[in-house]
Amino acid sequence: MKIAVLTSGGDAPGMNAAIRAVVRTGLQYGHEMFGVVDGYRGLLEDRFIPLTSKDVSGMLNQGGTMLGTSRVPEFKEIPVQQVALDNLRNRGIDGLVVIGGEGSYKGALALHNLEFPTVAIPGTIDNDVFGTDFTIGFHTALNTIVDAIDKLRDTSSSHRRCSIIEVMGRTSGDLALYAGICGGAEFIITPESPIDKDKLISTLKRHNQEGRRHAIIVVTEQQFDVHKLAAEITIKSGFSTRATVLGYIQRGGRPVAEDRILASRMGSFAVEKLMEGQSGICIGIHNDELVTHSLLEIVNHPKDRAKLYELVKKLRS
Ligand code: ADP
Ligand code: F6P
Repeated sequence: MKIAVLTSGGDAPGMNAAIRAVVRTGLQYGHEMFGVVDGYRGLLEDRFIPLTSKDVSGMLNQGGTMLGTSRVPEFKEIPVQQVALDNLRNRGIDGLVVIGGEGSYKGALALHNLEFPTVAIPGTIDNDVFGTDFTIGFHTALNTIVDAIDKLRDTSSSHRRCSIIEVMGRTSGDLALYAGICGGAEFIITPESPIDKDKLISTLKRHNQEGRRHAIIVVTEQQFDVHKLAAEITIKSGFSTRATVLGYIQRGGRPVAEDRILASRMGSFAVEKLMEGQSGICIGIHNDELVTHSLLEIVNHPKDRAKLYELVKKLRS
């Protein structure tokens, strides 16, 4: 077989480990392996490169993606997808592995619907993909955020301040939720658990009166202006507050061990699924077992985090 692999959407630490696993497993089974440069953009522009075992050497511990990635909004249109299909067919490619998040899954599903054998692997820091306990990159980003919270707590308690930390995640609160629990946050504000400003301010007023030396608030991006909120808290609660937007630093860095092993297992498994003739599926991990789901069942399906939000309530001070 000729098998191609691409990375799409936001880069995530561990994508390189997944590429390496796809390539090495494919080569072990005697297949010809190709990388598509810059995700769906490269599919449209016919940018394929052959990949040898040596090409992926030294990649396991590297952040980012050696193949490059992109966002290609026009890939939602069928005539555009048809261009990608023609390029895949003209090159004699028999199967494609897509590594990306929910949006990339929709692109993979589109190619499957055009009868091109496609298997997807969850690669995104957001952990917003249904059908898998974790996505590749989530744990590394989470560790980066927890490290930042620890540092911000040091300076907050030195100055007796409240610290708001805005993290990524788009429509998913997982990064904020997990990091908030790990960092001992007083408040976690996510799309799934939005801000209750009156309660936030009255609690911080009480904390300030009790003479507490710090407070941590972790917020998922794109909900409101965290700097404006910091100013409002300072005025209304008397607890001096500063906001920090962590930004793209969360997407970089060497993948932690959890992401390396997850990527290695999923990449290898994806190739075996293509060899079995499967298509239109995605790989997940559930209770440490690799599983597959149909892409159609997975897209547009939020994760249930009720138990973790219950835990947050129990840990509140
Ligand atoms: P992620 O994969 O990390 O969620 P995006 O949401 O940006 O990132 O999606 C990555 C790419 O997947 C998009 O730029 C687009 O090319 C493709 N894509 C997203 N939605 C669709 C869709 N509905 N149909 C086809 N392709 C899509
Ligand atoms: O999907 C990963 C992610 O980092 C989101 O958390 C964030 O909202 C988005 O990508 C940012 O995308 P861009 O790189 O296009 O600014």
